[in-house]
Amino acid sequence: MCGIVGYIGTRQAFPVLIKGLKRLEYRGYDSTGVALLSTNAMLNVYKEEGKVANLEANVANRDLGGTIGIAHTRWATHGIPSSTNAHPHVSQSGKLALVHNGIIENYSLIKERLTKLGFTFKSETDTEVLVQFIEYVKETHGVDTVTAVRLALNQVIGAYAIVLVDKEAPEQVIVARKSSPLVIGLGEGNREFFIASDATPLVEYTQNVVYLNDGEIAVLKRGEEMQICNLKNEAVDLDVQSIEMNIGLLEKGGYPHFMLKEIYEQAQAMKDCMRGRLLEKEKRVVLSAVCNHSERLLNAKRIIIVSCGTSWHAGLIGKQLIETFVKVPVEVEYASEFRYRNPVINKEDVVIAISQSGETADTLAAISLAKEKGAFIFGIVNAVGSSIARITDAGTYIHVGPEIGVASTKAFTGQLTVLIMLALCLGKERGTISEVEYEEIVTELAAIPDKIERSLACNERVADLAKSFTYARNFLYLGRGYNFPVALEGALKLKEISYIHAEGYPAAEMKHGPIALVDAEMPVVVIATHHELYEKMLSNIQEVKARKGRILAIVTEGDEGVKDLVDNVIETPPTLACLSPLLTVIPLQLLAYHVAVIKGLDVDQPRNLAKSVTVE
Ligand code: G6P
Repeated sequence: MCGIVGYIGTRQAFPVLIKGLKRLEYRGYDSTGVALLSTNAMLNVYKEEGKVANLEANVANRDLGGTIGIAHTRWATHGIPSSTNAHPHVSQSGKLALVHNGIIENYSLIKERLTKLGFTFKSETDTEVLVQFIEYVKETHGVDTVTAVRLALNQVIGAYAIVLVDKEAPEQVIVARKSSPLVIGLGEGNREFFIASDATPLVEYTQNVVYLNDGEIAVLKRGEEMQICNLKNEAVDLDVQSIEMNIGLLEKGGYPHFMLKEIYEQAQAMKDCMRGRLLEKEKRVVLSAVCNHSERLLNAKRIIIVSCGTSWHAGLIGKQLIETFVKVPVEVEYASEFRYRNPVINKEDVVIAISQSGETADTLAAISLAKEKGAFIFGIVNAVGSSIARITDAGTYIHVGPEIGVASTKAFTGQLTVLIMLALCLGKERGTISEVEYEEIVTELAAIPDKIERSLACNERVADLAKSFTYARNFLYLGRGYNFPVALEGALKLKEISYIHAEGYPAAEMKHGPIALVDAEMPVVVIATHHELYEKMLSNIQEVKARKGRILAIVTEGDEGVKDLVDNVIETPPTLACLSPLLTVIPLQLLAYHVAVIKGLDVDQPRNLAKSVTVE
């Protein structure tokens, strides 16, 4: 949550910062700000409520000169979205300016202490407290700014990624992190620096990056090599890594929204995810992480999947896949609940952490807890180099490219693809899947990208149907087996972007409560593809119909059994039950998308949400 950008070099900072903020806007978008250090050591700070474009428009006539700057796009935690609470925050003397992502948990104690000493605060934020505290430490200890930052951070409890500039030291930017992401791009001769919460603002300038680790402080001086130390003031070696990213994936490429583009990218994304791993001719799946850690993975007595949001839904499908093909018990936990309920974790357990961003605070904390207790941690992550990717013992990237739309789409299908490949690899090694079934699934998996393309053909029909659903205030989504989590995911998509209340339910469980809500006003989306629970699903459909519910059914191409019972059907290509979520989710993503578009809502940046939730 919250996006941070910084620059020090020879270019004008403002355009770099604004472009970077736009790339990071998915992380929060309720207010924006920049601080620019001009050549005559003026510190110009501009802040606005609302999105980056709003700030850009409102400062067009101001002094935007300067080759050093910091910037921030906010997702409010302390204090309402407003220009006062927006970052950068400036110290009392006006010399220091700071942007921050994270939460300073002991900020109220520090604030109380500073208030007694006569400090006053303009905003309600923990960030303003931190910048004032750094200034206080600097003055009382008579130290330079870098030392003051280090001493202050030693007294801070919480999470932070910060970038600070000092008007009186105009040739440097100070950067630090603990539990919030931060990456530094090395530009021209490694003496020009781009700072950001993730690599997307950096890729067009450089491929060389340094990921700061927890408890590290970097001092970036124009024209000099970067210096890193830890909170104990010990020097840390530079670990420069090379990143590759297709810039085209960061643009809308002719689509009206990132979400639609990302829905359409799913066939290609799945191919990218399977490249070099699914060997079609040999009818084999190879995951290097499984080969390298086979003993630990195969000896697991139990697997615990931890994740949040859409990734948790993928985890529910993963449970069914692993239990079916690997015959190991799997528990699926909300990371936020797992971390606080004193879970029983054994050394023989394998914990699978699923995360698109690789930065979700609760998932990170759940991993740390499981690690402490000796479990082996396997990551299924999209963002390369992210915190989760770096702290896991092993893992498989989903490689679907950057996902920008806040509502997750291609990451979900990518996560499912990796989970299927993982279940196949482990099942084969353990001998818990028959050769025939293994080969059948591998062959069908290779065919899924084409079937995703075919599924996307329903787009216009879904767009048309969506018009008749915008009146709805509630939706029910029903599925069974592998498609119950898809029902949850369909409901989540609709909630997230169309602000219509929606619930996903196991179809048979409906009669234990939600059926009371069903009437002629209630749209019910059912997933009734041709698999083993099809007949049962028909009975559930009858139950809804008897209460006059308005049913939209997702069925297998050519289905005859459902169409006379329901109001509308959307067909998806036939496939195996275990792979069907990869296809049934497509019309549900499109339905949520079109309802939101018709309602005139901000599809890519829905209200109150953020894509990367770095606070608990
Ligand atoms: C946020 C996003 C969701 C995402 C969830 C988990 O709520 O809006 O789309 O599913 O976080 O994020 P992760 O990056 O860990 O998958």
